[in-house]
Amino acid sequence: MEFNVKSGSPSKQRSACVVVGVFEPRRLAPAAEVLDKASGGHLSALLRRGDIEGKVGQTLLLHHVPNALAERVLLVGCGKEREVGDKEFQRIITTAVTHLNETGSMESVSYLTEISVKSRNLHWKVRHTVEATRDALHRTDQLKSKKDDLRRPLRKLTLMVPKRSDLTDGESAMREGMAIADGVMMARMLGDLPGNICTPSYLAKQARAMSKRYPALKVTIIEKAQMEKLGMGALLSVTAGSREAPKLIIAEYNGGKTKDKPIVLVGKGVTFDTGGISIKPSPTMDEMKYDMCGAASVLGALTACAELNLGCNVIGVIPTCENMPDGAATKPGDIVTSMSGQTIEVLNTDAEGRLILCDALTYSERFKPDVVIDIATLTGACVIALGQHASAVMGNHPPLVHDLLNAGKASGDRAWEMPLWDEYNEQLKSNFADIPNIAGREAGSITAACFLSRFTKKYHWAHMDIAGTAWVSGSKKGATGRPVPLLTQYLIDRCPEKGRRVTKKS
Ligand code: BES
Ligand code: MN
Ligand code: ZN
Repeated sequence: MEFNVKSGSPSKQRSACVVVGVFEPRRLAPAAEVLDKASGGHLSALLRRGDIEGKVGQTLLLHHVPNALAERVLLVGCGKEREVGDKEFQRIITTAVTHLNETGSMESVSYLTEISVKSRNLHWKVRHTVEATRDALHRTDQLKSKKDDLRRPLRKLTLMVPKRSDLTDGESAMREGMAIADGVMMARMLGDLPGNICTPSYLAKQARAMSKRYPALKVTIIEKAQMEKLGMGALLSVTAGSREAPKLIIAEYNGGKTKDKPIVLVGKGVTFDTGGISIKPSPTMDEMKYDMCGAASVLGALTACAELNLGCNVIGVIPTCENMPDGAATKPGDIVTSMSGQTIEVLNTDAEGRLILCDALTYSERFKPDVVIDIATLTGACVIALGQHASAVMGNHPPLVHDLLNAGKASGDRAWEMPLWDEYNEQLKSNFADIPNIAGREAGSITAACFLSRFTKKYHWAHMDIAGTAWVSGSKKGATGRPVPLLTQYLIDRCPEKGRRVTKKS
């Protein structure tokens, strides 16, 4: 999918389709007004006849509009003019591009960037048009034997900006949107792949492929034997019941100066979580293929970062394995020694995410990080607490938590803070080891983060629980690619673009 930024009059666009807005009730947006005047009132006559009201979700495709150079004009409902927020804008774009894609307009010109969105500027609108378009046109039929291919799908979308002086800003917004969409698509694709394909080795292979594509990215894979030498007893206890080899993927993006301290992103990569011996119930267990979405979001954010050629150092650390029941699997009550030296009583083998993360977090100390952010589908309790609308954020450094929450607001990929108070930490008590891996039913997402906090004392750290946001269940089941937009926004805010496009190795 190709995007372009341009300025100019709607009646002068030679294109398969010009897309303009209609507000409720039956009011033309500025670009639609221009077409209406040029056509001698063609559009306003249709509105008077009641062909379109202007509600979000409505469209009306017109052919042969007098004095327009475009073959078609698509009217798109935008709702009440003053009530367009982030979600409405996204729905408007999704409706428009889905319609274009299905009605043969392979290259189209959109004036929907002129619609005012509450507290958002042109940059945001251009970027989000690109993100929403790529999201809407994403297909999940990779593994279907018959794909219903469209004969004339949407291939190129030109986004119109009001003035020539808006072009530079528009183009940079478009580049950000493309990079974020690339990252989101990478995360969605990996998330949706089933556990028998997307194994730890598969994730490692994907990371290696990324390092071939981006010169600034270096990938190292730590194998099981090395994990043993490093003393990663917690990570190894999770993989014990699996026949798939565990991997610890280290992906270093060097966009900054050698002396710049890196931002470390740690992603949970459980490619399938059966629960282990503390086995999960069967209904919806298939969704535990998504238990590597933290890992996928790290690879996605690194993709966006490399595409944008950001001027900072970012290191992805991805512990990845399967959690399976087996004769060799870890049993409830087993005590293991983590890389940090702390012993852990594994009271529930289904609380495995924190076990692989704790060793990855200890390993991350060697990078002398500026900050460490872990991203994980860590607790079902998080889905209960926040649902699918916000990721949970907790951390030991308020400015970092604050930056992440702000990145969530700016990108529209929202997060919400939960408290990491000492009182919660006191719930983690074991009679036989330094700490247990579970702490009762209350505040499950917080006590999981408390467990991690025992391994992150040496640096500024934040934890994101994405159990509710990484995928959707039900008839629209699929990975969302979250929180790639939030993470990329955080990175954009922290490190400026170096100003030139990266040259890809072919
Ligand atoms: N991967 C799951 C968390 C999860 C469950 C995410 C359902 C999304 C939907 C995690 O490994 C897990 O099983 N957590 C347990 C922890 C409990 C045993 C303390 C949970 O949340 O039930
Ligand atoms: Mn689990
Ligand atoms: Zn899990």
